[in-house]
Amino acid sequence: MKKNRLLTAMCALAMLAANAEAATPSATSARAAAMPHLVQKDGHYALIVDGAPFVMLGGQAHNSSNYPGALKQVWAALKDAHANTLEIPIAWEQIEPVEGKFDFSYVDTLLAQARQNHIRLVPLWFGTWKNTSPSYAPEWVKFDNRRFPRMLGKDGKPSYCLSPLGEQTLKADRKAFVALMTHIRQIDAKQHTVIMVQVENEVGTWGLARDYSPAAEAAFRQPVPAAVLEHKKPPLPGAAGGSWSEVYGQYADEYFHAYAIASYIEEVAKAGRAVYNLPMYVNNALRDPLEPMAPWKNNFSAGGPSFDVIDIYRAAAPHIDLAAPDFYSPESSKVTATLDKFQRPDNALMVPEMSNAASYARYVYQILGRGSLGIAPFGLDYADYSNYPLGAKAKDKTMAAPFGAIFAAFRPVEHLWAQWALEGRTRGIAESDARTPQSMAFAGWTIKASFRQWQMGGEVGPDSKDFPPDTESPNGGVAVAQIGDGEFIVIGQHARLWFDGAGANAGKPSGYARVEEGQFDASGKWVMERNWNGDQVDSGLNLPGKPTVLKVRIRTYSY
Ligand code: DGJ
Repeated sequence: MKKNRLLTAMCALAMLAANAEAATPSATSARAAAMPHLVQKDGHYALIVDGAPFVMLGGQAHNSSNYPGALKQVWAALKDAHANTLEIPIAWEQIEPVEGKFDFSYVDTLLAQARQNHIRLVPLWFGTWKNTSPSYAPEWVKFDNRRFPRMLGKDGKPSYCLSPLGEQTLKADRKAFVALMTHIRQIDAKQHTVIMVQVENEVGTWGLARDYSPAAEAAFRQPVPAAVLEHKKPPLPGAAGGSWSEVYGQYADEYFHAYAIASYIEEVAKAGRAVYNLPMYVNNALRDPLEPMAPWKNNFSAGGPSFDVIDIYRAAAPHIDLAAPDFYSPESSKVTATLDKFQRPDNALMVPEMSNAASYARYVYQILGRGSLGIAPFGLDYADYSNYPLGAKAKDKTMAAPFGAIFAAFRPVEHLWAQWALEGRTRGIAESDARTPQSMAFAGWTIKASFRQWQMGGEVGPDSKDFPPDTESPNGGVAVAQIGDGEFIVIGQHARLWFDGAGANAGKPSGYARVEEGQFDASGKWVMERNWNGDQVDSGLNLPGKPTVLKVRIRTYSY
């Protein structure tokens, strides 16, 4: 009976998802073959896995956990974090240590153990570039720089970074990636343990805006390709065509480099998808979103998919579904500004990396509320390694706990939430560093959230001397889905909520019909634990520190 209800719910979700438009290029032939794929509807996206929308509540393993012996520590952390997806490197050096001789033993172990642990996988292809460097390329690639050239500076000196114009490098990387995708297809085409693939890792270059080798100089003098011109308008009104310098002026070097890297990645991704058509994305080490826009001055890795060149990636790499931000700057203003820049109608939001420091946990609400395909704190792994100060100091359960508590609240709605996000019904906020109230706008209603409030009484202002315990640092967050007229699912912590009529309900008196605390069961049915009333609603809906799920129904009335 329970199984039947689950199937019915899944079928309903699959039908709803099927009504959404297929996002190019991943869904074209994929739906028929039930491959994981993206769909989009009015600029909102969902990842479809086994026919139903799915939100990745993920964790990323540490860089060197990509060996069978290290996996035990990874599964243990994912379990504590209530994660449903693991992002983990598959390194070129480990699958092709000797040219042409492939070893997929790690990949086989990884998939087998992922299945045993009921975890989906997003392999990270550490190929030509890992954080811009060739560190994960095989030795036979890294040190043969006649065949696999490094970029050259204006002075002719080699950079550490492999050139995106290296034809042999591209050929070799593409061959290895195709071999990997072929192997994954062979062992996973039925089960879809692998649901998405990251191509390379945090590409770009430090120290040089682009390659200045003779081949690169010749390419730089060529006219800007039409597809780039179409997507990326010149920063100042100017030339409609011409060489990179003529069109993009002081931005030409960075843009040319972005085009070169994106074109390289396109060749790798296109060939990989030709053998096994999984969604693919690139990730970005962010540039400061609040700095006034200016040409590159070694303040970020040039040529990576930073927000200002997403258009160039879209033009050059149609086989890449999206460019995704990696969050390691804790400031809430930067997180919000970056999310604003990466979430676009033509670029689905996904956060493949975020610091695992506890202060970032609140961003899960904001990111999932914005309809992200998923999120993965980095280093959700009990290896004896901490990437503090970027991440948490702790390497044990206390590191996983803040994320685990939130993921546990979302896990029962991992399909429903993704469906609601696709329909544009979800919103999310994280308590800002300024700790000021924030609002979320819905059809007919506005929800205002304030922070550092006691559960009873009037609003506590910023000058109070008496704040609730455990609110010394910002840790509030709320994600809300409007599931009907005046009906909401609220998931949140450390926040006080007020609902007010807006639009057609503006100015009308209103009252709660129900404020049920509970959870969805595996079949998608709401199970109420208790109804909040009296003191529990008179001073707003005060979400405690433990992530709490509410089903709220509010109505207007007339005199
Ligand atoms: C971002 C990179 O993409 C990860 O592989 C890792 O190096 C983290 N930074 C920091 O530990």
